[in-house]
Amino acid sequence: MKHRTPWLALLVAAICAPALARADAAPGEPGRGFTAFVELGCSGCHGTVGQGGPGLRLAPQPISAQAIAIYIRNPTGVMPPFTSAELSDATIIDIQAYLASVKPPPKLADIPLLN
Ligand code: HEC
Repeated sequence: MKHRTPWLALLVAAICAPALARADAAPGEPGRGFTAFVELGCSGCHGTVGQGGPGLRLAPQPISAQAIAIYIRNPTGVMPPFTSAELSDATIIDIQAYLASVKPPPKLADIPLLN
């Protein structure tokens, strides 16, 4: 029975992904995304700027909103799942926009103390 779960997750992802791809056309709003990221507790595990902690590093250069949705609806590790009732596709797009707005750290060569 246990072996069925990944197939079910893939089926759900295949059904949900096209809807999110269409919603992707509407741009996300980083400010709203930041608020949701903190209020939903994502920042508690992934860090305020998505730098990582108990959870993986999510920013800068995050994966697509579609890929985020697929994972958070059906996480395979220790991360708790978030249903579309708890976290809408539109909010995921905002969260992705926030993560995409995080500036990358400076290059080592640009840090005087290290040269
Ligand atoms: C209790 C801690 C915790 C919370 C809360 C949490 N995460 Fe995670 N997240 C993890 C961990 C740990 C992983 C690594 C995979 C795993 O074990 O599930 C992960 C993985 C992910 C991944 C997959 C990253 C990749 O590159 O594969 C995404 C995307 C993600 N989290 C987004 C979110 C978002 C968005 C929220 C808030 C809605 C959130 N997480 C809340 C702990 C958390």
